[in-house]
Amino acid sequence: HRHVDHATAETVAQVAASGDTHAHIPDYETFEAYKAAGGYSALAGLRRNGDWQAVQDKVAASGLRGLGGAGFPSGKKWGFVRSNPGPRLMAVNGDEGEPGTFKDRFYLERMPHLFLEGMLIAAWAVEAERVYIYMRDEYPAVLEILRREIDALEGSGLIAPGYVELRRGAGAYICGEESAMIESIEGKRGLPRHRPPYVAQVGLFGRPTLVHNIETCHWIARICREGPEVLSVHEHNGRIGLRSYSVSGRVRNPGVYLLPAGSTITDIITAAGGMAEGHVFKAYQPGGPSSGLLPASHDDVPLDFDTLQPHGSFIGSAAVVVLSDRDSAKAAALNMLRFFESESCGQCTPCRVGCEKAVKLMQADTWDGALLEDVCQAMADASICGLGQAAPNPIRLVLKHFADEVGGTAPPTAGYGTRQSLERRE
Ligand code: NAI
Ligand code: SF4
Repeated sequence: HRHVDHATAETVAQVAASGDTHAHIPDYETFEAYKAAGGYSALAGLRRNGDWQAVQDKVAASGLRGLGGAGFPSGKKWGFVRSNPGPRLMAVNGDEGEPGTFKDRFYLERMPHLFLEGMLIAAWAVEAERVYIYMRDEYPAVLEILRREIDALEGSGLIAPGYVELRRGAGAYICGEESAMIESIEGKRGLPRHRPPYVAQVGLFGRPTLVHNIETCHWIARICREGPEVLSVHEHNGRIGLRSYSVSGRVRNPGVYLLPAGSTITDIITAAGGMAEGHVFKAYQPGGPSSGLLPASHDDVPLDFDTLQPHGSFIGSAAVVVLSDRDSAKAAALNMLRFFESESCGQCTPCRVGCEKAVKLMQADTWDGALLEDVCQAMADASICGLGQAAPNPIRLVLKHFADEVGGTAPPTAGYGTRQSLERRE
């Protein structure tokens, strides 16, 4: 097996979108190779005589934020979880279901032990008694790699048998919502829970639970091995750190690009080899369908946490999809709402009925903007989880920026449909 030089991940990491892996196991960095290159010494040192708050300080100094999409300061979560009495648990969200997102797969198929060591450091920091990895079943190669390498970790004595449990998802997008994932791990139907309480207080099996995304753990390991500078030295457009953009659509070389946080869509398209032959840049999805669509004129906005809110969008998991003059913004938004309609868990009326009504209204030649906005407002205000709260974003952004395609009759209200924005409005 090939040794992966971590330093190369500093620069632009790229892989051509490789299609389905099925049973093919890519050439990845094994336990032996990782260990021979100094892997797991950070974990061993911390377990011997580490101070979890010193690690938390390092993570804070790096600026690392949760890379599942919400950008919650990673180290801060440890303090929340630890403030609740044990036993505590950890759950890793590997249910990478946001359409256009494939960065976690990229890292797991190449350097799974950076993730595993970061996960074990975070588990150590909160004194988790057990760790559950909830992994997307659509990634068979990743599942096989994790099975093998967790076995290797058990064999080496770094973890006790059964300390890390690998669970397979069953294809439901909503099970990537952290409380639905927890329900699913508990063996129940994946229905999001009301918050608060947050999972840091009442999570898996009622215990305080640390939930991290795969890539977040990957960076925790790198911060411990290489220092907070591994992220903090990168500055671009006033933003600090790096982002793994999953880039697809009408670009020459789709793939995962590790670029400075705050890269604009122009930087990203350039990194991906420019627009595909014969295509003219028209619009882009900055971070999954819940982030909607922005027009090409928004080509100078840094694509980072917080920077897209004034534009009614957000970076989320940094799943950038580039559309061209051959694509219809109206059709793209309808496709997004069809996805939400199909993936809504159906538990709350604004989302279940709202998605269905929105799809019907969006099928008309001319959109009834006022009626659609009514539906959007109800969904954003009254849905239980992020799916229903953010589903209006594609509708509102297409009404605002592509009125010529939909003949919209009412301007959208400024909206950013997530719980955070609701709290801000309150
Ligand atoms: P959120 O901001 O509500 O929560 C983020 C994290 O911080 C959660 O772990 C939550 O428990 C924790 N948290 C927030 N406030 C807290 C508090 N006061 N005390 C303790 N813990 C607290 O965001 P949410 O709804 O969990 O995630 C939404 C994001 O997920 C969106 O940005 C979306 O893009 C992304 N997403 C990513 C997918 C993927 O495939 N990577 C799939 C679907 C959505
Ligand atoms: Fe389920 Fe949608 Fe309600 Fe979320 S907003 S709990 S997905 S019905």
